[in-house]
Amino acid sequence: MQYTVLYNVFVQLLYLTSHGLTGVLAELQPPTNVRINSVNMGLVLEWNASENQTENMTYRAEYRSLIGSFKAVCFNTTAPSCDFTPHLNPLGVYVFQVRAEQDGDTSPWVKTKEFVMDEQTILGPPSVTLVSTGTEIEVNIQDPVFRIRRFRDVYNHAIFRITYWIEGQEEKARHVNTSYYKKVLELEPLSKYCISVMVLTQRFFKHSQPSNVTCEGTAEANYLVNPWLLAFLVFVMIALVIGGMVLVVWLCYRLVRFLGTKAHLPEHFTEHMLDKRCSSFLAMHKSPPPDEVYHEVIICSAGRETLFPLKK
Ligand SMILES: *[C@@H]1O[C@H](CO)[C@@H](O)[C@H](O)[C@H]1NC(C)=O
Ligand SMILES: *[C@@H]1O[C@H](CO)[C@@H](O)[C@H](O)[C@H]1NC(C)=O
Ligand SMILES: *[C@@H]1O[C@H](CO)[C@@H](O)[C@H](O)[C@H]1NC(C)=O
Ligand SMILES: *[C@@H]1O[C@H](CO)[C@@H](O)[C@H](O)[C@H]1NC(C)=O
Ligand SMILES: *[C@@H]1O[C@H](CO)[C@@H](O)[C@H](O)[C@H]1NC(C)=O
Ligand SMILES: *[C@@H]1O[C@H](CO)[C@@H](O)[C@H](O)[C@H]1NC(C)=O
Repeated sequence: MQYTVLYNVFVQLLYLTSHGLTGVLAELQPPTNVRINSVNMGLVLEWNASENQTENMTYRAEYRSLIGSFKAVCFNTTAPSCDFTPHLNPLGVYVFQVRAEQDGDTSPWVKTKEFVMDEQTILGPPSVTLVSTGTEIEVNIQDPVFRIRRFRDVYNHAIFRITYWIEGQEEKARHVNTSYYKKVLELEPLSKYCISVMVLTQRFFKHSQPSNVTCEGTAEANYLVNPWLLAFLVFVMIALVIGGMVLVVWLCYRLVRFLGTKAHLPEHFTEHMLDKRCSSFLAMHKSPPPDEVYHEVIICSAGRETLFPLKK
């Protein structure tokens, strides 16, 4: 009985002393609100200054992987953050700790929980551009850009989820999945569509932050607007017109020649058969042959006299 009372007193004394002692030794307050900010595999440890921060307080921040001891990355720093990114592996698991220091005094460490990089990092949005042609909108997507490794090195089976809606009708939004970087949406003509894309990974079933909403209008039906089709049609029409004209001229030429040389048809018949386009050929054909000018030439030979005309 007495022993237990004495023992209790002793324990209480010991507790008080040790508490008092640590109170004296660790007078520095640790940083508060210690948090991990990890986007696209970048990793920055952030914290708030301890409550009674004094002028020359600095911080020391360290990390360790599952095996191995802590390694300091930031020391004697006054900034309330430390960027660990270059030291980390995207498939690693890490623990971080930070403490305040001042003139040889140190605060207790503040440790984080284990951080699983590829599971817990936040995936930023993909970048998206839209190209509208007629009633189609082509959605061009790029993976989020990682600070360490390439996105696809870690999440090789990722798809894009495209959400699109007519502007002002977001509640009627539709979704489509694609594993390609380019997707053509067939849409209603003359409407303004808004589009947002996010990445879904098979690994850990993560989804990225959605991309910024961008809106693009569709035009009238495609064939009216497609400039290449239009140019092709114009070309075909010009070719047809020129070809037709050449054909008519040739036929007229053949017909007039035939009528003029081979057969002697009544004049009104030929005029009925040949339409106006041929009339110029007919006129050419019927025009009298040009006058041939000739002069009499007298050739005189010595002695005898002959007279005959020479046509030139
Ligand atoms: C920590 O500091 C940030 C700015 O550095 C501030 O916005 C935030 O409110 C602070 N949090 C606490 C709990 O003091
Ligand atoms: C901060 O300082 C004030 C007085 O200067 C003291 O009352 C308070 O307990 C201190 N806070 C901490 C967390 O040490
Ligand atoms: C901070 O450090 C400077 C020199 O490094 C020193 O002169 C000053 O007294 C220190 N301030 C405090 C509050 O310890
Ligand atoms: C950090 O600061 C302390 C005291 O100011 C100094 O003794 C120590 O050498 C510094 N450490 C480094 C790595 O600069
Ligand atoms: C797209 O993929 C996600 C995840 O695989 C699935 O939950 C969703 O139903 C798919 N949506 C469509 C429209 O296929
Ligand atoms: C999204 O929009 C915000 C503000 O409008 C801009 O700061 C940010 O860079 C945009 N993000 C992308 C991926 O374009």
